[in-house]
Amino acid sequence: MKVALLPGDGVGPEVVHEAVRVLEALDLPGLTLLEGDVGGAAYRRHGHPLPPETLGVARAADAVLFGAVGDPGCDTLERHLRPEQAILGLRSELGLFANLRPAAMIPGLEAMSALRPEIAARIDLLIVRELNGDVYFGEKAIDVLPDGRRRGRDLMSYAEDEVRRIAHVAFRAAQGRRRRLCSVDKANVLETSQLWRDVVIEVAAEYPDVSLEHMYVDNAAMQLVRDPGRFDVIVTGNLFGDILSDQASMCVGSIGLLPSAALGERETEHGTFGLYEPIHGSAPDIAGQGIANPVAMILSAAMMLRHSLGAPEQAERVEKAVARTLADGVRARDLGGSAGTEDVGDAVIRRL
Ligand code: NAD
Ligand code: IPM
Ligand code: MN
Repeated sequence: MKVALLPGDGVGPEVVHEAVRVLEALDLPGLTLLEGDVGGAAYRRHGHPLPPETLGVARAADAVLFGAVGDPGCDTLERHLRPEQAILGLRSELGLFANLRPAAMIPGLEAMSALRPEIAARIDLLIVRELNGDVYFGEKAIDVLPDGRRRGRDLMSYAEDEVRRIAHVAFRAAQGRRRRLCSVDKANVLETSQLWRDVVIEVAAEYPDVSLEHMYVDNAAMQLVRDPGRFDVIVTGNLFGDILSDQASMCVGSIGLLPSAALGERETEHGTFGLYEPIHGSAPDIAGQGIANPVAMILSAAMMLRHSLGAPEQAERVEKAVARTLADGVRARDLGGSAGTEDVGDAVIRRL
């Protein structure tokens, strides 16, 4: 089993280090870890945020464990050289179109939610975010109009096959859960969303056992804080999924808690090839202080064990150890605690 480690920038390397220690503690037979430069770190070393060697390392692996990219010092570079292009490039080059972002309350953490604890207690949802299309990958530019005004533009679009394949992923995910799917769009304003909705309805015919509802994204943002427990699986486009998942993280308690898996169609010997990363970024405001919460990264490694490495029992062991760590009150600063990044890693490893 080959895992490509791409730690990246800011807190990325700090949290990846803890996930690696957890993986090593599991003592998986035949696990090989390869490393690659990515993001601002790669730009500074190689002049590009996603050097060909890094893409090669990722392609040659069964799974990629990705920390985070983003470096304020790179924010004025030409867009194609910015750190964020690395994660966008990996997602598109590797055909990772399905982003699973689970958000579930961890017993004992209810008081950390930005919502009232009795509302937060019921959260158990999965956001299925499309990852290869939308306004993220459309033609974009800042140009100058004939009268001298600058205009920015980004084309939002989805082709029907792109919608269909993510819809199938979401319906199948719902079948393995509480069989309820909510498709989030903005069909009252956007044609892209109208097509999205039409195609999701077509696909629904193949899943009579799943109940489907449609919700506009503004309402979904509201319902997510009013009563997050009403959601089972949410399927949505790249941009809305990005925003709603950060929001969901604070419903659970912290952005330092939510993992994600980016999957495509490629099967390997052990499972589906995938890229695993926390939903948070490089957190430059706390980088280098040893206080970042590594839970989202460790839980991402657990998702990797389950989906890409064919080790579901080990995934569950890690998830249980994380839950016990938090229930025992070992918490980083984002959760009101005083445990450092390594303390949390140590505590998880002790409970494995
Ligand atoms: P961010 O997620 O990095 O940080 C938002 C806030 O959450 C910050 O206050 C940060 O300290 C806190 N936070 C994030 N992760 C945490 C953790 N593990 N433990 C404790 N606190 C944590 O988002 P941002 O500030 O908007 O972006 C910073 C940089 O990261 C930008 O360059 C952005 O483009 C990039 N980014 C990258 C990814 C990715 O690599 N997948 C995701 C999001 C943002
Ligand atoms: C995420 C991030 C990325 C995204 C950025 C860094 C490109 O916010 O993974 O949620 O928008 O997808
Ligand atoms: Mn995001």
